[in-house]
Amino acid sequence: MEQYVIKGGNPLVGDVTISGAKNAALGILAASIMTDDDVLIDNLPDVRDINVLLEAIEEIGARVERIDRHTVRINGSNIKEVAVDDEYIRRIRASYYFIGALLGKYKSAQVPLPGGCNIGSRPIDQHLKGFRALGAEVNIERGAVIAHAIDLVAAHIYLDVVSVGATINIMMAAALAEGQTILENAAKEPHVVDVANFLNSMGANIKGAGTDTIRIRGVNRLHGTEYSIIPDQIEAGTFMCAAAVTRGDVMVKNVIPKHLEAITAKLMEMGCEVIEFDDEVRVVGKPTQRHTDIKTLPYPGFPTDMQPQMSVALALAKGTSMVTESIFENRFKYVDELARMGTNIKVEGNVAVIDGVTQLTGAQVNAPDLRAGAALVIAGLAADGYTVVDEIGYIQRGYECFEEKLQGLGAMIEKVDNDREVQKFKMKVG
Ligand code: UD1
Repeated sequence: MEQYVIKGGNPLVGDVTISGAKNAALGILAASIMTDDDVLIDNLPDVRDINVLLEAIEEIGARVERIDRHTVRINGSNIKEVAVDDEYIRRIRASYYFIGALLGKYKSAQVPLPGGCNIGSRPIDQHLKGFRALGAEVNIERGAVIAHAIDLVAAHIYLDVVSVGATINIMMAAALAEGQTILENAAKEPHVVDVANFLNSMGANIKGAGTDTIRIRGVNRLHGTEYSIIPDQIEAGTFMCAAAVTRGDVMVKNVIPKHLEAITAKLMEMGCEVIEFDDEVRVVGKPTQRHTDIKTLPYPGFPTDMQPQMSVALALAKGTSMVTESIFENRFKYVDELARMGTNIKVEGNVAVIDGVTQLTGAQVNAPDLRAGAALVIAGLAADGYTVVDEIGYIQRGYECFEEKLQGLGAMIEKVDNDREVQKFKMKVG
């Protein structure tokens, strides 16, 4: 099984270029089958979740042509199957986007209940509430969501919880419904806006994405388009944290600084220097960084997907920090792994109380999910000695060329397959 082996202690220095946003790409790829014309999507991240979704798109009969590593052409005119049942698709959360896309286009969808990272119970009741409000009959049978409608008709929908997935899913179905749907208490994340922009470039009529009220006037059909995905806010934030934790100096390129404000603010409160340019941010770590408190919230609040990485930064800051997780209830599982590296963190309910320490030591640790996996790698980069991170399949779901990008910043990290290769790495780096 693949692992990362890391020798810590090198400050990260240099430039890193951020890939396209995974979570935007997942919505956009699913939405691309809603037209019979060709859709060309660029700045696609080459990560496992995206490749699994592309396989599933092909499986239901759409044509998927990989032009290059980051560009794909999709044509959904030959879709014969509204039942998605790829064995891998169950494992990725975003499989639920097929419900909105297929229901919108064919008024019928059959999709397995989603898997994804195990960070909490993750219900999809708000998605289903939205589809039902649009006139669909929705049932759960044998582990799958089965949705049908004679006609989709616009509705006034209020989300009981702010949900990224439900907002995007309802937006897709409503784009091809009759009349104007009003979606209230909608999620405002950058990837919600990106999917709305993409749908609009296909002829949809969506207004207000990025605010908490989205108005979707249904159209009869969507047409082909060419679209470039926004940069990944969380990948950018992860490298910003890595720069801070290793007391490095990194220029994070190809970003939208506005999307990073919550992360920038917290790093600055900790005493890091963060300098914003048009499409890059430079993060300079300081020898002594200060504690601060964080509470995860829907955008523009601090993103839950950055909670583990920032907690590592706080674990090496002076003083006591409180991190409150208010989106997912099971997102502190990595804390036990971090403890093996010498952190001092106590979790009570949804709050982690972090007492900063001055040094971490390398250890063998397990990535419990995607973002926590990245956080453990960052901890390893700062730790004294060697760290081995197991279960890196999670990390590869969402970070393109993670180890190569880190190596480009001077990190001593390698992907290995077995203990012999770990030993070889140790001999090589000394
Ligand atoms: C998306 C992201 C994920 C990120 C999360 C929050 C994708 C593929 N994943 O996940 O990386 O961590 O947003 O920014 O884009 N909820 C309900 N009922 C629902 C839907 C959600 O109660 O029908 C709750 C969830 O349990 C959670 C909160 O709402 O507590 C937010 O979830 P949501 O925004 O839907 O997350 P995802 O779209 O699954």
